[in-house]
Amino acid sequence: MKIEIFSSLFIIAVEKPPSDSYRKGGFFYFRQMEFIKVTPSYEKHVALIELNRPKELNALNLQLMQELRDALKVLDQDAAVRAIVLTGNERAFAAGADIKQMANKTAVDMLMVDQFSTWDQIRKTRKPLIAAVSGFALGGGCELAMTCDMIIASETAKFGQPEIKIGVMPGAGGTQRLTKAIGKARAMELVLTGKFIDAEEALSFGLINRVVPVEIYLVEAISLAKEIAQMSPIAAMLAKEAVNRSFETHLDEGLHFERKNFYLTFSSEDQKEGMQAFIEKRRPNYKGK
Ligand code: CAA
Repeated sequence: MKIEIFSSLFIIAVEKPPSDSYRKGGFFYFRQMEFIKVTPSYEKHVALIELNRPKELNALNLQLMQELRDALKVLDQDAAVRAIVLTGNERAFAAGADIKQMANKTAVDMLMVDQFSTWDQIRKTRKPLIAAVSGFALGGGCELAMTCDMIIASETAKFGQPEIKIGVMPGAGGTQRLTKAIGKARAMELVLTGKFIDAEEALSFGLINRVVPVEIYLVEAISLAKEIAQMSPIAAMLAKEAVNRSFETHLDEGLHFERKNFYLTFSSEDQKEGMQAFIEKRRPNYKGK
């Protein structure tokens, strides 16, 4: 039996399939991850990550976030993956950072653990990342959904930054991303009262892409991922980078950045294929080259 171990991700390849395995390159891979489930080829070119701490409403403890960071890093480098969907379960996407893990910490403990460095890595994921949210997306859960590029929500989804109710405040981007997404007045109200908004409100505020019945929120997110996965992965990556840049820079610099990325797409075979396919009135076949 041949065994390969990639230590950073606890991936092991064996010839006989364990129950949570997937097949690739003649081997079955499985993960010894405790708090997330990863399915690299859930659909063609689409990977699925499921947060898996159901009893704790997917509270985001340090290990879960490290597993998520590691999984995203590997999927980002896997040429077969062109879009990633991140989800929880029907009851909760995630109810926030793990309060029990933080409750007795000092400021110095928090500083030294530096839990948000994992979030910084997650933010650097280059492939399109879609959150499929049902139930609670609170505190760090709301922040994690906002770190994704798009959010598909079920009718039962509830978003909020309730940290103020437990004597703290958002720490993983809530005061920044929420404000940019829904504006100062609404963000201020959510952050200072800790109240939740439902999916319809989140939609009307521009926080999420759409609301669908709970039975199909994951299907809808996967379908969006599949649509994106049909595009050139190089163009998608560069386009995502350029849209994100608009949050971090002035218009002039953003336009300059966009232009450079636009020119860069012309160094790909996919650009030639995309334009030739248009001229020949056929569907393009993108290879990610
Ligand atoms: N951390 C740790 N455990 C949590 C949790 C969290 N954020 N959220 C829920 N849980 C646990 C509960 O303690 C409970 O565990 P036990 O069964 O062992 O008691 C279990 O999950 C189920 O939760 P509830 O019994 O409370 O379920 P409910 O349906 O009555 O209420 C809820 C659901 C409204 C989401 C409620 O659980 C809640 O208010 N959770 C906390 C939400 C919150 O404050 N999030 C912000 C965290 S701080 C943060 O995220 C900082 C940051 O910016 C990164």
